[in-house]
Amino acid sequence: MKVIDLTKNTKDLESKILPAVYAIKKGDLVIIPTETVYGLAADCFSVSAVNKIFLVKKRPYRDPLIVHISKKSQLSLLVDKIDHRVKKLIDLFWPGPLTLVLKKKKIVPDIVTSCLDTVAVRMPEEKITRKFIDLCNVPLAAPSANIFSRVSATDLPHILSDFKDNSDIKYVIYKGRPKYGIESTILDCTDYPFKVLRFGALEIEEIIKKTNFKIIESKNFKLKKAPGMYKKHYAPLKKTFMVKDLLKYVEKNKNDCSGDIIVCKNKTAEIIKKINKNIITIPYGNTLEEISKNLYFCLRLADSIEGKKILIETVENRSLGKAIMDRIKKASAGKEII
Ligand code: TXA
Ligand code: MG
Repeated sequence: MKVIDLTKNTKDLESKILPAVYAIKKGDLVIIPTETVYGLAADCFSVSAVNKIFLVKKRPYRDPLIVHISKKSQLSLLVDKIDHRVKKLIDLFWPGPLTLVLKKKKIVPDIVTSCLDTVAVRMPEEKITRKFIDLCNVPLAAPSANIFSRVSATDLPHILSDFKDNSDIKYVIYKGRPKYGIESTILDCTDYPFKVLRFGALEIEEIIKKTNFKIIESKNFKLKKAPGMYKKHYAPLKKTFMVKDLLKYVEKNKNDCSGDIIVCKNKTAEIIKKINKNIITIPYGNTLEEISKNLYFCLRLADSIEGKKILIETVENRSLGKAIMDRIKKASAGKEII
């Protein structure tokens, strides 16, 4: 696996990423940057290439993949017709971190969609991703670039720690840390009202504000509609818990907490340091935007250092906080310390 580093110099971009384009054309895998998290990409029409994604990630075949396109016209390769509401979403939010689940064309291989009659499609905001798809001249199936159920990768060390010695992945196109740091929002658009299948980087409130559409946020979908929604996901290897009133907890358990790793707001971390300096704190920012950008990064860091267990401070469950809380709940498999 070779690293194509685009962090320092983006001159001559095309010739730099061309070897990775050839790898895709040959049916190999490439790790691509996006504005959300890194993706593990393959030609979406090549069954053998897509199969490698499942094997390399150790991902169950029942968990379908998102197909990434570089221009709106490519959508017609994947789906037959779109209604006026879907068109409005596309016009307003693509390119961007919004994935739409639509009725698929037969030509989309069953392995990509786990035999569903729908396909999830998104057009990334990150220009390099779209340039790369353009050069590949084919939509790319790409799940997040991490071993199944682990924390998604938002930096090069995360990618290397999961896949360093893998021979099916030929290149990593490295572009630094993604703008959002959390996955795209997924909407099921096969019926109206639309349904949220995954809270993500684009706030549902913003979609509703700009479209006036009815969007259902219920969590009780049949597994068939949202096959990838597992209770434990995005999870560190260390024992992980979420804590609502973290300061109260630390205050009460001052000495027991020595050696714990606490992922929390910057302002919480400052106070904890004063209570017991042997508690390791990893601050994830103060605003919801900062927290979404840093959460996975901090969880990966927490997992890579010595410590007893990880405690994550929860956030308010509104706007971007819904996506963050979804990840915190899954990282801790719903285990809460009160
Ligand atoms: O931001 C993102 O969306 C990132 C970047 C790389 O684009 N990708 C990503 O992919 O998060 P992944 O595979 O980690 O998550 C895709 C989710 C899964 O939970 C899967 O079940 C769901 O999308 N999904 C894919 N196709 C679907 C379909 N046809 N119906 C319902 N859910 C689907
Ligand atoms: Mg994932």
